[in-house]
Amino acid sequence: MSGVLLEVENYSGAFWSPTNELVPVLHQVSYRLKTGAMTAVVGETGSGKSLVALSIFGIQPAAFVCTSGRILYRDTDLLGIDEKEMRSLRGAEISMVFQDARAALNPVFTVGRQLADVYQLQHGGGRSAAMAKAIEALRQVSIPEPERRARQYPHEFSGGMAQRAMIAMAALTCRPSLLILDEPTTGLDVTIQSDIMELIVELSRQRGLTTCLITHDLGVVAEICDEVVVMNAGRVVETGTTEAIFTAPTETYTRRLLAASQLLEAAA
Ligand SMILES: Nc1ncnc2c1ncn2[C@@H]1O[C@H](COP(=O)(O)OP(=O)(O)OP(=O)(O)O)[C@@H](O)[C@H]1O
Ligand SMILES: [Mg+2]
Repeated sequence: MSGVLLEVENYSGAFWSPTNELVPVLHQVSYRLKTGAMTAVVGETGSGKSLVALSIFGIQPAAFVCTSGRILYRDTDLLGIDEKEMRSLRGAEISMVFQDARAALNPVFTVGRQLADVYQLQHGGGRSAAMAKAIEALRQVSIPEPERRARQYPHEFSGGMAQRAMIAMAALTCRPSLLILDEPTTGLDVTIQSDIMELIVELSRQRGLTTCLITHDLGVVAEICDEVVVMNAGRVVETGTTEAIFTAPTETYTRRLLAASQLLEAAA
């Protein structure tokens, strides 16, 4: 798998319905995340983008059942390892930034403490050194007055600030390889959205991360992503370089998606 950090291979799954029936939602999903590349996963609401991402991170909903496939990270099938092994990868090598950052932060601890905990868990060292790193990380993501903000709780943060704090957390991990971002800017102010995207691109480049960006914003995809995976109704309908997808999409669904956002160029 040279040049590929993660490969989703024929991944299928279903949900238990309230009437105890298995309802298939993912059908033989396959895609690759090339090492060091930024790959977009796009597609209509409900197409399975988040479900696959949550599966990579090992936090599928309880009612979800995997019925086939593998998720290879380096040489490890993430679907075959136990929670302890998953936990050692999560945070240390694989980070995820969720759509609703405020909900992803723990409401009962200060933001500074949560960042310091992440740092200390992975790097060891003393408490005050970890807090200094946490404050430094908040400063790096342009949160004003980071010392004061570090002492605040998540509910005292704005949505954009909480998103920055989550990115700071991803930046504090020790051997980051894979960063998964599930609609990291949805619900934020448009001007803040572009700041957050800039931060993400900067972090990815600085640390040479392999990034998977789930987004509805095809303008952002065209601007910053190298590769695109198009999903529809639990299936991957098309994959390719951003250039190929935007200039010569082969699937009708992709054309429709691009046409809807008025980004279809030559292939219109
Ligand atoms: N906890 C759950 N119980 C039952 N069905 C679920 C659950 N979570 C997701 N689903 C179903 O699985 C399918 C894929 O959902 P998923 O959240 O991956 O979509 P998505 O592509 O991320 O959509 P969006 O763009 O709206 O975030 C959908 O049909 C959804 O209704
Ligand atoms: Mg989603």
